[in-house]
Order: sequence, then C-alpha cells, then structure tokens
Amino acid sequence: MTIDSRRKDEHLRYAEMTNSARQGQLNDFDGVRLLHQALPEQSLAEVDLSTSLIDGLTITSPFYIEAMTGGSKKGGMINKQLASLAAKHHLAMATGSMSIIFKDPTTKPTFEVVRQQNPHGVILANLSANASVDQAAEAIDLVNADALEIHLNSAQEVVMPEGSHDYHWLTNIKKLAARFPVIVKEVGFGMTKENVQLLADNGVAGINVAGRGGTNFAAIESLRGKRIGQTVDWSPLFNWGQSTVESLLEARSTNHRQATIIASGGVQTPADVVKAGALGATAVGVAGFFLHQLNTNSSGLDQLIDDWKQNIQAMVLLAGCHRFTDLVNAPFILNPQLESYVQQRHLKI
Ligand SMILES: Cc1cc2nc3c(=O)[nH]c(=O)nc-3n(C[C@H](O)[C@H](O)[C@H](O)COP(=O)(O)O)c2cc1C
Repeated sequence: MTIDSRRKDEHLRYAEMTNSARQGQLNDFDGVRLLHQALPEQSLAEVDLSTSLIDGLTITSPFYIEAMTGGSKKGGMINKQLASLAAKHHLAMATGSMSIIFKDPTTKPTFEVVRQQNPHGVILANLSANASVDQAAEAIDLVNADALEIHLNSAQEVVMPEGSHDYHWLTNIKKLAARFPVIVKEVGFGMTKENVQLLADNGVAGINVAGRGGTNFAAIESLRGKRIGQTVDWSPLFNWGQSTVESLLEARSTNHRQATIIASGGVQTPADVVKAGALGATAVGVAGFFLHQLNTNSSGLDQLIDDWKQNIQAMVLLAGCHRFTDLVNAPFILNPQLESYVQQRHLKI
C-alpha cells in the first residue's frame, strides 16, 4: 500500500474515532430555532424538496453525501456502498479527493465505482485547490462528474505531518472556475463573509462553507501525527474555525452573486438540514455522520435516509413553506451567543 492510500484509510479510521465520540453532543445548530406555523394551508404531498446544488444542476433531495474517500481498497468499498445508496435514494454524492490518481493510477477504480453504481445520479469530483486544468478535466471525465469540488484545507495541511505549507490558491481557483462548474468547499473550519465574497467574485458556481461542529481534521491529523512520532501538540487548534451556523450567517451577509451557498460540517439530523436551509443553504452535505452510520449499522443508513426525507418534508411544511428553497425566507431565532456573533461581525442577515 502506498503512503497516500494509507493516509486515506487513516482518515476513515480517525474520522470515525473522533466522530463517534461526538455523537449526540450539542453543536451550533441547536442554537437556531425555526418557528412553527399553525396554518400550513397545504398538503404534505405538495411539499417539494428539490433544489439546485449549483445553477442548472437540480437535485431532488436537499441533503447529499459529501466528499470522503477513494484511493484505497477500503475507500473503494465504502464508495461502492455509499454510491449504491445514493442511486437508490437519488442523493447527490461527492468523491473523496481524487488527487491520488495522478500519483497512483491503479487507484482509479476506487473512484470509478461511484459512477458505475450510480449511472444517472449527480456526482461531484473532488480535487485540491492546486489541481491543474488538465487534472480537473481528467478527474471529471473519470467519474463523468456533473461538477468539480475544490477543497480548501489549510488548517488540515498545517497539522498534517506530510502537509503542504503553501496556500496560494485563488488564482488557480479562478482559472478552474472559468473552465468548469466549480464548488469550493472548506473541510470543517468554516468561512468568513470576506472569503465567500472573494470566491463569488472569482466566478465559482457554489460555495460550501463546511464549518466546525463535525469532522475535525486538526484532531484527525494530530492523531495520525502522534502515530508516526510527531511531537508538536496541535490540540490548541481543535476548536479553531467558524461553526457551520456562523459560516452560513457570514455567507448570508454577502452578495454571493450567482454562487449557491452550500452547508456542511456537523450535520447530524434532518432538523439541521432544515435549519441550514433557513440560514440560506441551497443544499446540505453530510460526511462524518453518514460514515458513522455505515460503520455501525450499514443497513440502518438506508432506512435513516428515508426517515430524513420524511422528517424534512414535514418540517418544511410546519415552517410554513411549500418548497425547501422557500426556507430561506422563513423566520428563525438565534440563541444569545449566535446573536452576539452576528452583532460583533456586523452581519446583515
Ligand atoms: C473520512 C473523511 C474524509 C474526507 N476527505 C475529504 C476529501 O478528500 N476532500 C474533501 O473536500 N473533504 C473531505 N472530507 C471533509 C468532508 O467532505 C466535510 O467537508 C467535512 O467532513 C465536514 O462535514 P461532516 O462534519 O459532516 O463530516 C472528508 C471527511 C471525512 C469524514
């Protein structure tokens, strides 16, 4: 096994270790409340959950399987399981970072399986912000992707024992966004309104704020580092970053032009999906929580996805909306901590 394939497996292992410890804990989504509307004036069957991941790319479920894996035998097997669930439930799905295929082409089947299992579904190819136009074209082609996800992972790279320490990304992102439909995403540390504005101004099609509250790559890379004898204590970074709710409030305060705002980071319940919609997300990615379900009870994930859809449909109705996309106009209440965040950041929400 190559070092890169091993890293992929370690990410799966340490993500599970850190996420299972976090199950059921409160996060910032608990600081947001939607209001119950006692006069829905519609029937449940009329509620429409379809939305746009990016302009022109419709998805029938507002939540989807966010980027996790591929690049190792185990990653390929997980991708196969997730992709068949995505096909069954009509969920969009992102591959894990495909950068490894350029170093080790034998890993290609571990990504191709995502398209094989889901020939007609919406699939996102995932690469780092350094990817060249040719590499992006190759990755998109390999899985016949509908769009390209580019990840921003500075905090991960800082802690990662073999991480890159050069983070000049914007010029390349602009180049990629001029050629392909590009969604730029964080990996769990969130974004500011300035970040969102800059990305939108540089022509990206979607911005996934991927905030703090779920999978924590500072913790994951620190565990990996310890295993190979790294001595730096990176624990001060474990609470770094904006939560997903804070990041969505930041994004809501921008003129993000044509770029859609997407949420991920710590989404663990259908209520989180609906709250993210109210805060302005057009779609919601779920990574660590689905991985945890797959690890603990893979057949249960099938039922859980059905349950989520029904719960989301009910909550959209009870919030007085006809469509998931109407949630952005639904009133919400923030707890004092989030309200203070909004004030101190001068957010116009
Ligand atoms: C095991 C694992 C591997 C991941 N690998 C990638 C990746 O290759 N590329 C990427 O953009 N994000 C990756 N992520 C980050 C997720 O896509 C997501 O942005 C982040 O985990 C926050 O969502 P969550 O709290 O629902 O896990 C990974 C997440 C997990 C759990």
